[in-house]
Amino acid sequence: MFTRKLPALVCALVIGAGAAHAADSPNLGTPVTNADIAAWDISVLPDGRGLPGGSGTAAQGAPLYAQKCAACHGENGKGGTASAFLARGPITSINGGERAIGNFWPVSTTLFDYIRRAMPWQAPKTLTNDEVYALTAYLLVLNKVIGEGEVMNADTLPKVKMPNRDGFIVRFPGKM
Ligand code: HEC
Repeated sequence: MFTRKLPALVCALVIGAGAAHAADSPNLGTPVTNADIAAWDISVLPDGRGLPGGSGTAAQGAPLYAQKCAACHGENGKGGTASAFLARGPITSINGGERAIGNFWPVSTTLFDYIRRAMPWQAPKTLTNDEVYALTAYLLVLNKVIGEGEVMNADTLPKVKMPNRDGFIVRFPGKM
């Protein structure tokens, strides 16, 4: 008899404990606020959805680049210490080391997303949106994708067609 009654008893105890728990929580952690979530909710989709307000030009990006990026990425994005090349000529072989923004990246808006979330390497998420737009414009000019005077913002950046836009085989057509 004991073995048959035990499950029901355990069940009652668990349900009872659950109810008590809900009524009187252990007060661990703090409730997450919308502002907390906004700081992490920064994904920009290929079509530009998620791009924030703000704007920037290459002329505004140049001094920022010299100050915050050139130490690792070199003058004009030609490579510094051990970091990725940001601007290079056309790809001439399958050597991954030749990849840069203008010759490889298929979507312009990814550049904004990447810089905002990951750069500068030692201090990610410290740039303002205006600064990220300016650096994006500067790197697009270095890669000869846009003209010197073009303003990058949530409206213009998604319209920039990257040279290698059609160089990828899309695994799931219609999804990019
Ligand atoms: C302390 C060194 C350092 C600094 C400063 C730095 N970066 Fe980087 N950056 C890197 C490294 C390392 C990578 C490669 C990361 C990887 O592949 O995971 C990288 C990658 C990148 C890439 C991607 C390149 C590609 O084609 O894969 C971009 C774009 C970029 N950085 C932009 C910037 C910008 C803009 C700044 C200035 C705001 C900056 N970085 C400052 C070290 C740095």
